[in-house]
Amino acid sequence: MNIFVLTGAGVSAESGLGTFRDTGGIWAKFDPMQLATPEGFASDPRAVHAFYNLRRRNMIEAEPNEAHRALARLGRDLEAAGGRLFLCTQNIDDLHERAGASPVVHMHGELLKIRCEACGHVTQWPSDLTVETPCPACARAGGMRPHVVWFGEMPLHMEEIGDALMAADLFVAIGTSGSVYPAAGFVAEARAAGIPTCEINLEPADNARLFDTGRYGPASEVVPAWVEEVLRGRG
Ligand code: NAD
Ligand code: APR
Repeated sequence: MNIFVLTGAGVSAESGLGTFRDTGGIWAKFDPMQLATPEGFASDPRAVHAFYNLRRRNMIEAEPNEAHRALARLGRDLEAAGGRLFLCTQNIDDLHERAGASPVVHMHGELLKIRCEACGHVTQWPSDLTVETPCPACARAGGMRPHVVWFGEMPLHMEEIGDALMAADLFVAIGTSGSVYPAAGFVAEARAAGIPTCEINLEPADNARLFDTGRYGPASEVVPAWVEEVLRGRG
């Protein structure tokens, strides 16, 4: 069985990492146009570095939760049975990987990576990033940015994602508000291709009406229960 799982900030909420649009979410406290756009970075790179340095430190201190671990188990057991889990996340944290999932496709980039605006070199970076940080490849300073997709930029790995979605026997969205494209459009693409769809969320998201079924509650409870049903052949 091939399952395509899309995760959003809600899957990491119980690990203590903030969501974006819930009450008190990140975008209620910070201006996304200043901190999550190329224009914002160009106008005040120090503010953007400070924002992502804080998120990187919080992420390193966070631990995966039972939802992350259940999805890693699903991937291993599906593969052992000749199937596949395509785990696509909008999250820039590494909690799926630290729970044992592999591979994980990060369509919005990864907070533990940085990219040089001059030469494009991408490198692992667990520390704070500053405007003085030189590029490890071309040695230019002043052009290092988080390897994260900002508003107005193209998400990553879209061709691979599209192929995997069309090859899926089931599409499941977990912990995403369904309000940001192109991820929010995946459910409509799956429906058009006749692929069954399921939403797992704390509450119905903006695009909940497009899903065939829904399971609601905290991801750390609902996801392990759903994975057990799938692995017993009933999910
Ligand atoms: P966006 O994806 O939010 O699109 C802007 C708005 O346009 C959407 O809210 C939606 O209302 C509308 N829209 C976009 N595509 C549509 C479609 N196909 N049909 C109908 N309406 C549509 O913003 P963006 O500029 O496209 O952002 C690009 C990507 O960057 C997004 O996937 C976003 O999640 C990502 N991002 C990442 C971070 C981060 O910190 N990782 C921060 C901001 C944005
Ligand atoms: N368990 C399950 N779902 C939860 C939980 C939880 N414990 N807590 C919150 N949620 C759900 C909320 O109900 C909401 O539907 O997670 C979702 C979080 O939605 P957003 O904050 O909008 O996060 P997300 O959908 O990942 O945002 C998409 O927007 O700003 C960009 O790039 C950013 O990747 C992000 C994208």
